[in-house]
Amino acid sequence: MTNKKKILLSGIQPSGQLCIGNYAGALKNWVNLQEEYDSIFLIVDLHALTVKQIPSELRNRCLSFLAQYIACGINPDKNTIVIQSHVPEHAELAWVLNTITSFGELSRMTQFKDKSKKHSNNINVGLFTYPVLMASDILIYQADMVPVGADQKQHLELARDLAGRFNHNYSDTFPIPEPFIPKSGARIMSLQEPEKKMSKSDENVNNYIALLDAPDVIIKKIKRAVTDSNTDIVYDEKRPGLANLLTLYTILTNTTIDETVGHFKGKMYSQLKSELGEVCVEYLKPMQSEYNRIIQDKVYLNEILKVGAEKARYKARRTLSKVYRKIGLVPLPR
Ligand code: TYM
Repeated sequence: MTNKKKILLSGIQPSGQLCIGNYAGALKNWVNLQEEYDSIFLIVDLHALTVKQIPSELRNRCLSFLAQYIACGINPDKNTIVIQSHVPEHAELAWVLNTITSFGELSRMTQFKDKSKKHSNNINVGLFTYPVLMASDILIYQADMVPVGADQKQHLELARDLAGRFNHNYSDTFPIPEPFIPKSGARIMSLQEPEKKMSKSDENVNNYIALLDAPDVIIKKIKRAVTDSNTDIVYDEKRPGLANLLTLYTILTNTTIDETVGHFKGKMYSQLKSELGEVCVEYLKPMQSEYNRIIQDKVYLNEILKVGAEKARYKARRTLSKVYRKIGLVPLPR
């Protein structure tokens, strides 16, 4: 028996502004699980290149995301936080995995179909092979557990298939990674269009609450959230706007849907919105003040990135060497 902790890995694309959807689906669970696992948290800048980026903004956003991870409660002393491009092995393993991935299975990826529609003037090959790079992120560290929101389930299934395929073609190399998808908050919906998911890169900023939104902005966005023409407060998925606000309330107050519905029984939508606004502002306040402190300290942030890259590269290099050997590439003679 060994006491070695299992490996947890997850990541977020530095695009747009980190939002309450990313928090509910991913970050909150990272914080809760970080003690139990040997954890690696990525800022996946190479993934972000699949849509057009302004270079200076992308650069700043990576540091801002790092500071937000820490401000949300990720402990950089106990975990590895790393920018994807600092570990070139991700892209190298992705190439190998590309050669065992079929065109057909990537064509079935719903996120590829959605993003191709959204960015019809930039359907680049990177957008198509994006899930293979994600599989590489996971497999390069031999991850056992991957906490994500519901929208990443299909990508994770591909990572599992590729791990199994590689193991079968060569020999046991990768653990089959397990998804961790929270029961509540796995799919937070847009505030203005509650039939679609909340997205941090939505063009309409009123569709999401950014973790760094000012209090008056949060209150205004929630007040304007689209609900329906009913008046009673019940949890009904056919009323997605209301269901979404109730879900957000349960996440931010750490209660159940039944408790939340009980709390708002007989009250009006306007009361739910104003209480949710207050709760959200209070919830984000400590995180925001911590962020404002950390983001000033570039020396501290750079040090985390240096240590993170070094730890991550060591692990990634070991996996990649093993993979290269198994598939028949000639090692560089010493
Ligand atoms: P990304 O950057 O779109 O989203 C980051 C995380 O937030 C979750 N999420 C949501 N959860 C609940 N409700 C929402 N409305 C919502 N929107 C986003 C996502 O499910 C995700 O967990 N491909 C990934 C990033 C990635 C990755 C990885 C994740 C790259 N490599 C390896 C895990 C492991 C992505 O684009 O997530």
